[in-house]
Amino acid sequence: MNTTPSGLPHLEPNVFPFHPSAPVVQVELEDVFVDYPARPNVLRGISLAIRRGERVAIIGPSGSGKSTLLKTINGLLPIARGRRTIRLESKVRETYTHKNSSVAMIFQEFALAQRLSVFTNVLIGSLGKSRGWAKALGWFPASEKAKARKYLEEVGLKGYEHRRVDQLSSGQKQRVAIARALMQEREILLADEPVASLDPETAYSVLRLLARLHSEFNYTLVLSLHEISQAREFCDRVIGLQEGRVVFDGIPSSLTGKTLETIYSVNDLIELNSH
Ligand SMILES: Nc1ncnc2c1ncn2[C@@H]1O[C@H](COP(=O)(O)OP(=O)(O)OP(=O)(O)O)[C@@H](O)[C@H]1O
Ligand SMILES: [Mg+2]
Repeated sequence: MNTTPSGLPHLEPNVFPFHPSAPVVQVELEDVFVDYPARPNVLRGISLAIRRGERVAIIGPSGSGKSTLLKTINGLLPIARGRRTIRLESKVRETYTHKNSSVAMIFQEFALAQRLSVFTNVLIGSLGKSRGWAKALGWFPASEKAKARKYLEEVGLKGYEHRRVDQLSSGQKQRVAIARALMQEREILLADEPVASLDPETAYSVLRLLARLHSEFNYTLVLSLHEISQAREFCDRVIGLQEGRVVFDGIPSSLTGKTLETIYSVNDLIELNSH
């Protein structure tokens, strides 16, 4: 393998794991407004810049717009006003289609095919790259299968390939969803409340796994979290939302009680403390 002057292996841009050059702003939202039908201004004037390789937590009360923000970054929702820019190593993409996306997403409710095997669910992650007819026949190249095995091993599910997903625990299902997202080998990974439905111990083990994979593969990780303690422990940066606006953006140690009162109402804080 070729090496760079610093002795590091020379890798093509966009080859997983990523070897980022200078930190660049990879996700940029400028004064973004998003509406749902009959529900205007769910996001109202969001501006933020996320650099390559950052690990960012989105926090905020239920209904503040966390999922909407992640879907907006992913290009799944139209922007009513403002601008979204996604920058890759060598390209800038202002528009998005599923085919050329640089974003992988783990959804709040896993979005797995329950009756299919673990292996097939992970392989589905590569569908965007496979040809249509192959997809229809359930045929995947050997290289994709090898990759699926590798990522299942990464998430600690070696030996579970042929289990049906509906026979797994919630923590195991979440690991399948993570392996499927890794399979896409994208520069940006978004995770919407990846541990919300898990018991505290499993939640921590999944967060530790996400943190390890993030260090290993160097993608940009943006995840929404319900628990402030998890955001503090696992992320470099926290963005606080309230009613569709950014009301906090900073390092976890500056999340003081006073700041939390700006993000959450008193009732929200009582509920959070009771967990
Ligand atoms: N498809 C939709 N149609 C209309 N309104 C929606 C839709 N999805 C979400 N909303 C509304 O938009 C607002 C933001 O929702 P969103 O799901 O982004 O919040 P959230 O912060 O992710 O909440 P939670 O913590 O409960 O997941 C809420 O008031 C919600 O009711
Ligand atoms: Mg949500």
